[in-house]
Amino acid sequence: MASILLTGCAGFIGSHLAERLLHDGHRVIGLDNFDPFYDRILKERNLAACQTHPRFSFHEIDLRHGTDALVDALPADPVDVVVHLAAKAGVGPSVREPAAYLENNVLGTAHLLEWMRGRDIGKLFFASSSSVYGNTREQPFREDLPLLSSCISPYAASKLSGEQLTATYHHLYGFNVLNARFFTVYGPRQRPDLAIHKFVRLLRAGEAIPVFGDGSTARDYTFVLDTVDGIARGVDYLLTHEGVYETLNLGNEQPVALLELVAAVGRAVYVEPRLEFRPMQPGDVDVTYADISRARQLLGYAPQTSLADGLTAFVDWLDASEQNLL
Ligand SMILES: NC(=O)c1ccc[n+]([C@@H]2O[C@H](COP(=O)([O-])OP(=O)(O)OC[C@H]3O[C@@H](n4cnc5c(N)ncnc54)[C@H](O)[C@@H]3O)[C@@H](O)[C@H]2O)c1
Repeated sequence: MASILLTGCAGFIGSHLAERLLHDGHRVIGLDNFDPFYDRILKERNLAACQTHPRFSFHEIDLRHGTDALVDALPADPVDVVVHLAAKAGVGPSVREPAAYLENNVLGTAHLLEWMRGRDIGKLFFASSSSVYGNTREQPFREDLPLLSSCISPYAASKLSGEQLTATYHHLYGFNVLNARFFTVYGPRQRPDLAIHKFVRLLRAGEAIPVFGDGSTARDYTFVLDTVDGIARGVDYLLTHEGVYETLNLGNEQPVALLELVAAVGRAVYVEPRLEFRPMQPGDVDVTYADISRARQLLGYAPQTSLADGLTAFVDWLDASEQNLL
């Protein structure tokens, strides 16, 4: 049994991961500040299944408050691996509030790394994003593509800065690091700001779906439990290896065009979509498309879930959650 500190534990991916790590026999120390980006009640609900577990503890902490705040608020219990998912997520809002994103995602990460150094914890799984590839033309995206001038949103810049910080701590202090670039994660508990969640709500309300651009933009949608499986494998890898510094894509290797996605969501809720074309939004990339061979080779990562099955799981969860059954 290992002890895992999980930041962003109350969020969409974090809460699924907490359940998986507990299932794998680990102890989970969860940390989250209930960032108001979306409703706290949803995040508390995300945590419900873990809260009664004997190997789970939770601490409401804001990473922006500094290393000393972490020292004061976190127990002195041993931690084997830190999984750092806490971040302000979302491209659009980062264009409107760049400083808030950098403060949260870069400074917050710096405080966490310093806390780890002070506690002599040298194993880190860092959640990065496909957005760091920007509009890189070479597809599928490989991890070794040069990215110094690729970012087209402050969110992407904050994630690439995070990767650079973890590289710095690997160099200075020998931290073992896996940076994982997630690709449009969807499924039960998905953030309400994300496309699939919004589309289901709009279709059911009889409203038109806003299509930004001509509908040909594409995303490598990855089902949340596939992403979580990749993270859990990453944790095991960190627990059993030393001298690690790797950057991996955790995607699905199957980009889906926006118009295809809208049609698939329509089929999942039995509503014929009505479309409303709008200009592209600033900061949005054209295509994301992961080459996952490195994650496959290193971790045995192999996403399993088809878009149709993943959308059905999402819709079932939304229905149950709206009826307060969860
Ligand atoms: N969902 C995706 O498609 C996707 C894609 C690429 C990368 N990511 C990354 O994966 C991670 C998890 O994303 P998610 O979709 O679950 O988002 P989420 O917003 O549901 O979860 C993030 C959690 O971090 C917490 N948090 C934010 N700032 C914090 C702070 N300063 N201190 C403590 N906690 C803080 C939030 O309250 C939230 O619960 C993020 O780092 C995100 O950037 C997500």
